[in-house]
Amino acid sequence: MSTREVATLFKEYFGHTPPHVVQAPGRLELIGNHTDYNQGLVLALAVDRYIFMAASPRPDGRIELVSSAFRNREGFATSTIEKNPAAPWANYVKGVLLQLQRRGVPLRGFNAAIHGTIPLGAGMSSSAALEVATALAVRRLTPYTLTPTSIATPPQADADGALPPLTARERLDIARLCQAAENEYVGVNCGLLDQISSLFGRALHAMEIDFQTLAVEPVPMLGDLAVVVCQTGVKHELVAGEYNALRRHCEAAARKLGAPALRALDMAALQAGRAKLTEREYACARHVVGEIQRVVSGARALREGDFEQFGQYMLQSHESSRDHFNNSCRELDILVDLARHHPACLGARLTGGGFGGATINLVRTPRAADFMEAMDDGYRKATGRSAHPLLCQVVDGAH
Ligand code: GLA
Repeated sequence: MSTREVATLFKEYFGHTPPHVVQAPGRLELIGNHTDYNQGLVLALAVDRYIFMAASPRPDGRIELVSSAFRNREGFATSTIEKNPAAPWANYVKGVLLQLQRRGVPLRGFNAAIHGTIPLGAGMSSSAALEVATALAVRRLTPYTLTPTSIATPPQADADGALPPLTARERLDIARLCQAAENEYVGVNCGLLDQISSLFGRALHAMEIDFQTLAVEPVPMLGDLAVVVCQTGVKHELVAGEYNALRRHCEAAARKLGAPALRALDMAALQAGRAKLTEREYACARHVVGEIQRVVSGARALREGDFEQFGQYMLQSHESSRDHFNNSCRELDILVDLARHHPACLGARLTGGGFGGATINLVRTPRAADFMEAMDDGYRKATGRSAHPLLCQVVDGAH
């Protein structure tokens, strides 16, 4: 449906049907909070909310962008890609274009229309999806094959003009390039979770991602399970500041304990080195080390179909974020408390960066509608706001 919407938007602005349409899904972190940049493990889902991008080449070396979510269109030459304070949303696109250019991809001019169904600020990674959509749209316009630092022989289209599907290696290199765009151009020192999830998603499966080896293993999510997102409607995060500070605490803790990353430590090693850390570093490390263990146990429970047990790990994960990592907030805690008291709920926790955004809830399917209604009512009573509950399907990655 929304590929049609983005094509309509494109036609409205640029006057013809777009030859290329790509889509990149948002992601949900099922469990594994702030473990990615600590070389840990995460169970993640790609879900049926997308950024769609429709594109066509233009001959004058200019790039013209329109978005259904923002009023200002944005235009610039491929030779002068710069930030425009009036269109900060375009930074995700520009960051990726600059990274592609830097690797040696010969950027040509194009028109693009962007339409999204990922709620903004809900912790479902609309920004990573926009980065990934940009990289895939450019690949359609100017086929390229990335290597970790440069480019290789471009892929050949078949007789119908279709490019070969991306290999796992290529998806990983695109994920890394998009992460570099966010780190260097947008200024958020994020890990690789969001970009990998958007590119590697698999319908009806969670992805178990190991950020030390970058292996991605599918874990079936079959059975009577529904995934529901509840939105706080608030974002307390101050630009990238809070996120980057948490990352610094984790990295300082690992460094002081002589470990390459917190992944290398278990609870006993952490306790033994506690005196070397500040209180805050210790609390952050404690969260991360415990959380990595919960992902290992959680993946086992999921593979065994023990959803009750998995739900318990989700609740423990939230408590650890709240009490040790301090990236929860009043609204997230209200949502998790409401959820855990509903009989259909197996587990609930904050998902993504924290400080607002959304919770992910694992719910028994037959009572999912009732759960969503109860969450909305309860959250309204507590805060005066709607929780805008979303039922999410687990889908394939970007293409
Ligand atoms: C954000 C970041 C990810 C990850 C999560 C927390 O989504 O972009 O890299 O760190 O927060 O797990």
